[in-house]
Amino acid sequence: MNVFGVDIGGTGIKGAPVDLERGDLTQERHKVLTPHPATPAAVADGVAQVIGHFGWTGPVGITFPGVVTGGITRTAANVDKDWVDMDAGKLLGERLGLPVTILNDADAAGVAEMTFGAGRGRKGTVILLTFGTGIGSAVFTDGRLVPNSELGHLELHGHDAEKHASSKAKEDEELSWPHWARRVQRYLAHVEMLFSPEAFIIGGGVSRKADKFVPLIEGVRAEIVPAGLQNNAGIVGAAMAAAGR
Ligand code: BGC
Repeated sequence: MNVFGVDIGGTGIKGAPVDLERGDLTQERHKVLTPHPATPAAVADGVAQVIGHFGWTGPVGITFPGVVTGGITRTAANVDKDWVDMDAGKLLGERLGLPVTILNDADAAGVAEMTFGAGRGRKGTVILLTFGTGIGSAVFTDGRLVPNSELGHLELHGHDAEKHASSKAKEDEELSWPHWARRVQRYLAHVEMLFSPEAFIIGGGVSRKADKFVPLIEGVRAEIVPAGLQNNAGIVGAAMAAAGR
């Protein structure tokens, strides 16, 4: 069965049809830049462009970079504040004229990783963290998700952790890999102190470069593994959610 998945990120809106048996894209994904300001109407237009590129007419799963409960977007750390408490499911469903399911981006990536990627078959507590414009988190226990965990906003040295340790912070402050790895290490140690996971799965665009920073991280007991689906996990997880998986 194929369902369309869209991943709304801080820099790009990307999507593709997904083969749910294989957990993979059936065609090369299409990406448009996230509009600035990322207002609901402007982002909905971007999502429509991505879907229109494929002429898709079936169900669509969409990730959002904030808390989502029952189709309502509740927070908006890296997108326009008009998303707060908005019925995004209704807005996007009407704009697209298609059945829409919307969920948190890291939760979507986590579900895809636990089914098809680095989390497959892993028991106990597993935490996926996406390092991108912000830090997203998905917490699992024996494969079951605790939705909307928001560990990117833990306080670290008096700062919102994602402002300090996201890959955007690395770019904005032009940090070297070792310098940024130290920040990621402190962040992981803090999350480990709170949750004692068996494993951290590192997702987001930077997971492609895991060899540049994961080997530099010391003093964290949990296994640290790069995401298997790399930056397509959000798209795959969105499609899974739309199919009720
Ligand atoms: C948001 C999360 C999101 C993460 C990654 C954070 O700022 O609060 O909901 O998962 O960024 O996009």
